[in-house]
Amino acid sequence: MIIGGVSAWGLAESYGTPLYVTDEQALRENYRRIHSAFSRHMDTRIMYACKANSNLAILRILEQEGSGIDAVSIGEVQTCMKAGFSPDRILYTGVNVSTEELRQVVKAGVPVNVDSFSELRRLAEISTDVPISFRVTPGVGSGHHPKVVTGAKGSKFGIPRESIIDAYREALDLGFEPQGLHAHIGSGGQSVEPFMDLIGIMIDTVNEIKDQLGLSLRFLDMGGGIGVPYRPHDPVMEVDELAMTITDMIKEETEVETLYVEPGRYIICDSTVLLTRCVDIKTTPEKNFIGVDAGFNTLIRPAFYDSYHHVAIANKFNRACERKFDVVGPICESGDYLARDRVLPEPEEGDLLAVYDAGAYGFVMSSNYNSRPRCREALVNQGQAELIREREDMDDIWRHQTVPGRLQQ
Ligand code: LLP
Repeated sequence: MIIGGVSAWGLAESYGTPLYVTDEQALRENYRRIHSAFSRHMDTRIMYACKANSNLAILRILEQEGSGIDAVSIGEVQTCMKAGFSPDRILYTGVNVSTEELRQVVKAGVPVNVDSFSELRRLAEISTDVPISFRVTPGVGSGHHPKVVTGAKGSKFGIPRESIIDAYREALDLGFEPQGLHAHIGSGGQSVEPFMDLIGIMIDTVNEIKDQLGLSLRFLDMGGGIGVPYRPHDPVMEVDELAMTITDMIKEETEVETLYVEPGRYIICDSTVLLTRCVDIKTTPEKNFIGVDAGFNTLIRPAFYDSYHHVAIANKFNRACERKFDVVGPICESGDYLARDRVLPEPEEGDLLAVYDAGAYGFVMSSNYNSRPRCREALVNQGQAELIREREDMDDIWRHQTVPGRLQQ
């Protein structure tokens, strides 16, 4: 198996496992593909949802490509600024934001996408000079799992469609100059229809704001959520077609100048594989297990959402596959699996497994559960490999703990 011109086996030998490996060219191509799909039709800002992967080296690459940022916390704002993004290239979309955090975002000079009336009123006490937009709950949801559907009615995110005009009215009364309207339907859905429904609702909303309040919004932010194929035969969402239809609708029916799109998964997901070593093989009357050194502490998506990640034995491509295996990790819970019932070549201890499409919500959702230090990340580019994150050690795990003196005797 070769990744970005570098042997997967060689990477595992030099850096150890588990190891996330990102192919820089694949990442750049994903960015360019989605940027050009939209911007050939209308002025578009791609706001990379950095919650998907906020490694500084990854952010540097996207900064060089010209991306903007969707940030959800002051931590993400600070990380992106450290990676070289100027504040005007970031949009802060928090939910249940503390006043202290709002204060820090305003101080950083980052525009705020407001999620509630409470947030609006608390923001007004800090400053009304900050550029704002509102997140509407559109009543349209989509996603690969109920846990990641955000736009449906009853969602904790955004201001309900019925109250959104009042939000803009109150913002104007408070002295803000709202710039845009935002919504996010959810993450990882595979179908285009919810996006069309969303854009229809956003167009109506923008036009109502214009008619009722005389306010012309400059941008419309359709959020992220463009799905990617995780299974070999999953459909690929036609981004060109999606972009053409959406931009046509916006251009025909509104005066909005700029479209924001917030893809996370689409940009980073398939650029990265997780390499993990087979350490144990177990055959039982019911199941065959390949025990590997990555568990849900390293990649939680299968355990948390029952997500499918394609798995292969990297040093056994093209071998006959005869038996089914579960690929399971070292965490002491029976929910700790990476893959279930996969037909794979006959494994041996020491084999190297590749878990595909691990770039989005992979490392960022990893943890120290079971006192396991988090793993390394590497970047490969045209035949060269570099480390972009060192592995943690036990001192990292103990660093912020204290034992009161009275317990130390
Ligand atoms: N914009 C907003 C406001 C969001 O909340 C999200 C994702 C995105 C953009 C980017 O969505 P994407 O294009 O990556 O689908 N941990 C889950 C996904 C959670 C997504 C949360 N919000 C997973 O592993 O599937």
